[in-house]
Amino acid sequence: MCIFIDCLLSPVILWPTIIASAIYFLKEYMQGGKFTKVTNETGKVFIVTGANTGIGKETALEIARRGGTVYMACRDMNRCEKARKEIVQETNNQNVFSRQLDLSSLDSIREFAAGFLKEQDKLHVLINNAGVMRCPKTLTKDGFEIQLGVNHIGHFLLTHLLLDVLKKTAPSRIVVVSSLAHTRGTINVKDLNSERSYDEGLAYSQSKLANVLFTRELAKRLEGTGVTVNSLHPGVVSTELARNWAFFQTNLAKYVIRPAIWPLIKTPKSGAQTTIYAALDPDLEKVTGLYFSDCKPKDVAPAAKDEKTGKFLWEESEKWTGLGKSE
Ligand SMILES: NC(=O)c1ccc[n+]([C@@H]2O[C@H](COP(=O)([O-])OP(=O)(O)OC[C@H]3O[C@@H](n4cnc5c(N)ncnc54)[C@H](OP(=O)(O)O)[C@@H]3O)[C@@H](O)[C@H]2O)c1
Repeated sequence: MCIFIDCLLSPVILWPTIIASAIYFLKEYMQGGKFTKVTNETGKVFIVTGANTGIGKETALEIARRGGTVYMACRDMNRCEKARKEIVQETNNQNVFSRQLDLSSLDSIREFAAGFLKEQDKLHVLINNAGVMRCPKTLTKDGFEIQLGVNHIGHFLLTHLLLDVLKKTAPSRIVVVSSLAHTRGTINVKDLNSERSYDEGLAYSQSKLANVLFTRELAKRLEGTGVTVNSLHPGVVSTELARNWAFFQTNLAKYVIRPAIWPLIKTPKSGAQTTIYAALDPDLEKVTGLYFSDCKPKDVAPAAKDEKTGKFLWEESEKWTGLGKSE
């Protein structure tokens, strides 16, 4: 017995055990808030954009597990179908569908919305999750800077095309996956499309600030309709989001930085919790215009409260998407 205890207390075993336990508990702590309420989503219809991987896939999986009908709206149909099959196999829910949606093309967004409206006359929750981060300067098919184009403009049009069905289905919800990065953002009123200068980090922050401004402006416009809209920060999550960020592909990042920050980062399942909370918590049925983090409301940056900028962004987004003319 004494030999056994001596062995356990030997520095060779004791220190690695203490360090491993500390890392384990730190990782657990960093997973953040969890949505633990039991809900039954049978008969409800959901759209999740960017549902083939990361936070979107975990969101779709959890909704499917709870019986919801899920439309996985993705740009790459092979990746979408692979993820859909995995979700169906894991949940045994056959009402999970993959549909093409490329948020970098206004035509694709219109085609997706028209196809959805032919298939369904209800939409309970639209989850605007898809996103790109820190891309080298690229334009969408319609000539928009890609981060603003996909993260904000694409979802702006998609949401508008689905507003009637959301109103018809009310109580219904829109969930906008933004980011804490919105706090570093400004809306570049003089050069919204980054034509004069481009910084990949600032363009991402601008697009995520646009998500929050859009949410708050839309919440006002939807007052009395029974449709709510809230935005959120999912946490720092281990997903494919950094794939376009050149620094994250370097050996320094791969072999030093990523392992070093691993204990501080959420798994995709943990990263999806605030989205699932915003989409499903029965207590949020009438809650609108808020921003959540770790499954609770959180204040937004002062720039996100600027109503004048919110209106400017709204009007520009209408012009860019051709809304206001035809819709
Ligand atoms: N991960 C984090 O730490 C973090 C932190 C704050 C906020 N967020 C936000 O969380 C959301 C989800 O990101 P994630 O971390 O899960 O990243 P991810 O793993 O890279 O997933 C992003 C999803 O968006 C899709 N997407 C990208 N461009 C698209 C387009 N043009 N049309 C349609 N879908 C497109 C991707 O499709 P493909 O697979 O085909 O490219 C993928 O399904 C994003 O809005 C992001 O800004 C993430």
